[in-house]
Amino acid sequence: MLENRRILLIVSGGIAAVKVPDLIRRLRERGASVRCVLTESGAQFVTPMSLAALSGDKVFQDLFSLTDESEMGHINLSREADIVVVAPATANIMAKMAYGLADDLATTALLATDKPVMIAPSMNVMMWEHAATQANLTTLQDRGVHIVGPGAGDMACGEVGDGRMAEVMDIVDALGEFFKSRIEHGPLSGHSALVTSGPTHEPIDPVRYIANRSSGKQGHAIAAALADLGAAVTLVSGPTQEIDPPGVKVIAVETADQMLAACTAAKPVNIAVCAAAVADWRVAESANSKIKKSDDGLPQLSLAENPDILATLAHAGKDRPRLVIGFAAETENVIDNGSAKRSAKNCDWVVANDVSAGFGGDENTVSLITQEAAESWPTLSKQAVAERLAARIADHMKNS
Ligand code: PMT
Repeated sequence: MLENRRILLIVSGGIAAVKVPDLIRRLRERGASVRCVLTESGAQFVTPMSLAALSGDKVFQDLFSLTDESEMGHINLSREADIVVVAPATANIMAKMAYGLADDLATTALLATDKPVMIAPSMNVMMWEHAATQANLTTLQDRGVHIVGPGAGDMACGEVGDGRMAEVMDIVDALGEFFKSRIEHGPLSGHSALVTSGPTHEPIDPVRYIANRSSGKQGHAIAAALADLGAAVTLVSGPTQEIDPPGVKVIAVETADQMLAACTAAKPVNIAVCAAAVADWRVAESANSKIKKSDDGLPQLSLAENPDILATLAHAGKDRPRLVIGFAAETENVIDNGSAKRSAKNCDWVVANDVSAGFGGDENTVSLITQEAAESWPTLSKQAVAERLAARIADHMKNS
């Protein structure tokens, strides 16, 4: 359940911060990636160096660091995670969260996040039982913050009672349960989805191929977002550097022919989203050995048309997916060309994107074109585009 999950771990200033290195180790052993935010008081208990070494990532500490804001603003920091975990969560940070205070990087990220939040409270028993802390706890629970612990026992201060941070493995298990339950109870639970992603590589000879600049970021993010809503997702992907999205069955292919075969084998599905940049043409007869330079002139490549995977899925007759969504990569007249593609390929929706700046970046500017309307979205991260599209798909499947 934690494989490839991205965890933003906020470490505030309690003695239990000494357990955080072990927490990071256990999470990474299970395939999660961990990025740490360390508060000023947290740094009294654990060093940024140890957190950086164990997480394998930079540790973020300063809200006003210009480098961090230009490379990774606090808004992105809080959103490029699947969950934000505060461990240990002191009485102070709980109070700030309850009141919406944002006076450092940790609390700013917590206020800016659109992701689920889990806290592992840790404090002296009297502080935990204080009416103020209990009221803050209720406020946070009412807002959907997940709470793990605290446990009871001897405390560092010598007192005994509730307030010890949950054991490391209890936090790890709570995170696993969180992701499991989200999938089981998600709005797309019971639905199956097929997503295509990335470029295709069409061989010219054993060492050369025709390709394009698709990175797979958009398609992979869509597969991840659908899986997070509970769909059983098969991702058929051309060659990319992207990691496999958590909980998704990934089938790696190279050519358009292989992509079509893998998509056909993945059927039947309820939902199909074709985000791959499939090469329109392949070399009609690729050479079995490397084509040599010759004095007789340039090699002549004759091209053949590739199968149209989206059109094939959308015209599939009785096993046509209930909702077929294509992408349209356009450099001009984005909405008109996208609408024309929707009709020509018989798909239900088209996500038309302006690719005049090229493929491969982290953001996308898209319009969602349905039979009824065209809706332009603001420029968003590819992850946000994916989450918004997945939410629309879930609404559609519920209402259709
Ligand atoms: O991978 P990234 O770097 O994140 O970039 C994302 C993206 C720009 C590649 C993506 O958002 C996108 O636009 N994907 C579709 C690219 C494309 O091939 O567009 P098109 O307009 O040529 O094709 C229209 C649709 O037909 C697409 O859904 C495409 O997947 C599909 N198609 C095209 C040709 C073909 N032979 N088979 C297909 O299924």
